[in-house]
Amino acid sequence: MAAFREGEGRAPIELHSLHLRDGLHIPDSMLSVTEKKRAAAFRSSAARRLFVAGRVLCRGIIGNMVGCAPQALSLAITPSGRPYLCDYPEIDFNLSHSGDRLALAVCHGGRVGIDIERLDAFPEEIAFEIMPLILSDQELDRVQRLAAEARRTVLLSYWVRKEAALKCLGEGFLANPQTVTLDPDGTTSSVEAPPLGEPIAIRSGRFDGEESQHFHWAVATSNATTELLWRHHAERDFLTRFL
Ligand SMILES: CC(C)(COP(=O)(O)OP(=O)(O)OC[C@H]1O[C@@H](n2cnc3c(N)ncnc32)[C@H](O)[C@@H]1OP(=O)(O)O)[C@@H](O)C(=O)NCCC(=O)NCCS
Repeated sequence: MAAFREGEGRAPIELHSLHLRDGLHIPDSMLSVTEKKRAAAFRSSAARRLFVAGRVLCRGIIGNMVGCAPQALSLAITPSGRPYLCDYPEIDFNLSHSGDRLALAVCHGGRVGIDIERLDAFPEEIAFEIMPLILSDQELDRVQRLAAEARRTVLLSYWVRKEAALKCLGEGFLANPQTVTLDPDGTTSSVEAPPLGEPIAIRSGRFDGEESQHFHWAVATSNATTELLWRHHAERDFLTRFL
């Protein structure tokens, strides 16, 4: 995507997804020294690959957007772990992974949080345990009235929307997910006493991945009316374009 210029109206929020196949090696040469150290500290090679691929995707997309070499972008993380760009405060981004799928959201102005989860992220019994921890009393009541299978799907849709909101706000699950209350229609939400001082809008949906994997996604942003633009990258394009 071409660099966004002032006066052209609000740029859409770019959403990128990437499916990493087994065994794909992703070099960490584009990463900073700190990121390389963090990558090296992962015990699980799958988790390491996801981390490296996330940083490569993020550096590649944002570097292209601002006209800067991907490896020259300076990224830091807040005390609660939220990554941000040091030199472009007008651009916000957020990453999420589930299984071998990565998602990146990038916006100009305001803040963004993204979450993706595989539809089969957790079994019914785990769903039962999680529900009272993340749902408000009203939401819990609503979900408990549903049939078992619908309950799990609806819970997951609550989960991704709440996590996206908490990631937008920056605290993640250090904040209480019960403070993010969602409207029943599932398209809008409100956050109690948002630290940003502005309402957070949450949009969500589903996409179908390869091998019958289905994902719930949610994007929370202070740019309530900005268009969302999904781009699903084939692994081949990712390798040739970004590495
Ligand atoms: C944010 C959080 C909900 C993400 O959970 P998760 O299961 O890893 O979920 P996702 O895959 O959707 O998101 C991971 C990405 O969110 C981003 N992230 C991490 N912390 C974040 C935060 N506080 N706010 C927003 N985004 C955050 C990172 O980019 C991370 O990916 P990366 O490590 O590859 O860069 C969870 O890590 C959390 O609650 N963190 C805050 C509390 C904490 O443990 N802090 C650690 C101190 S450094």
